Amino acid sequence: MTCLKRLVAASSGAAVVLAAATAAAQDRTPTGEPGGKDACMEILAHRGASGYLPEHTLPGYALAHGQGAAWIEPDVVLTADGVAIALHDITLDRTTNVAELYPDRARADGRHYAADFTYAEIERLSVVEALPDRYPHRTFRVPRLADVLELVDGLNRTTGRRVGVYPELKSPSVQPDLARTLLAELAGYAWPIRIQSFDDEALAALDTDLPRVQLIARPDQLTPSGLNRIASYAIGIGVPKELVFQDSAVVELAHHLGLQVHAYTLRADRVDTTFDSLAGEVAALMEAGVDAVFTDHPDQVLALVARSCDTAR
Ligand code: G3P
Ligand code: CA
Repeated sequence: MTCLKRLVAASSGAAVVLAAATAAAQDRTPTGEPGGKDACMEILAHRGASGYLPEHTLPGYALAHGQGAAWIEPDVVLTADGVAIALHDITLDRTTNVAELYPDRARADGRHYAADFTYAEIERLSVVEALPDRYPHRTFRVPRLADVLELVDGLNRTTGRRVGVYPELKSPSVQPDLARTLLAELAGYAWPIRIQSFDDEALAALDTDLPRVQLIARPDQLTPSGLNRIASYAIGIGVPKELVFQDSAVVELAHHLGLQVHAYTLRADRVDTTFDSLAGEVAALMEAGVDAVFTDHPDQVLALVARSCDTAR
């Protein structure tokens, strides 16, 4: 059973533990950012506007900013020379032409690890769209995190907006310098920042005042005690949308403990089979009270959310 299926199966118990969690919440002071009960669902650009341009590319992030996303999401890994780059996997194979340029650099498992390449070597690669029927060309390069931050900072200055950056620590257990490097890169920027990770030990241990969001990796994290532990260091949890679709009690449970709920991932070209349309998915998440949603198509989800918010007012 996959991690997602285990989580979705476990969520059916959320209603049962809600009453116990309500009692535990009486003593808690919510620790979230702006965006409370009456706020409309925030739009988190998943790997950029990755439904239109390849994930984790500077044009993809710029497009997301222009489309009105509230937050830009880069996943972050380290190169051999310690450079933080925007990349989802710790390997380069799925999203670049690394096997063509460096055919002799794979490990025994046949994969090319970012940790085995300097950034100068990675900079030579072309980003390759991983999903069929999306952007067809090899136009873009793998950016450094520093490039992403500079881009968002520049666009925030020229547009007068305060779009946030929401980086994910990828596999920090095998990248011991990742957290320190990330925090150093983020220092000095004044617009909103949140840090997320599936690794609860690494996220809890971060030496920072920046808001953190715990991505749920195990069913035990959704029990009252599990959520209470998360609430001691994080402002929210990140969950697969399917978990909310199956039992929205998880949202109520988290809210009772002062935690926001951020769901992933809405894709206009890959709508959940239990819904007729992206609008149906958006409506279900909003009805459940989800605070923010990751999407590959920020413009379409923003339009749907805005329409619902307008209707509600
Ligand atoms: O970080 C939220 C969501 O992006 C988690 O899934 O695999 O796309 O990083 P993934
Ligand atoms: Ca992510």
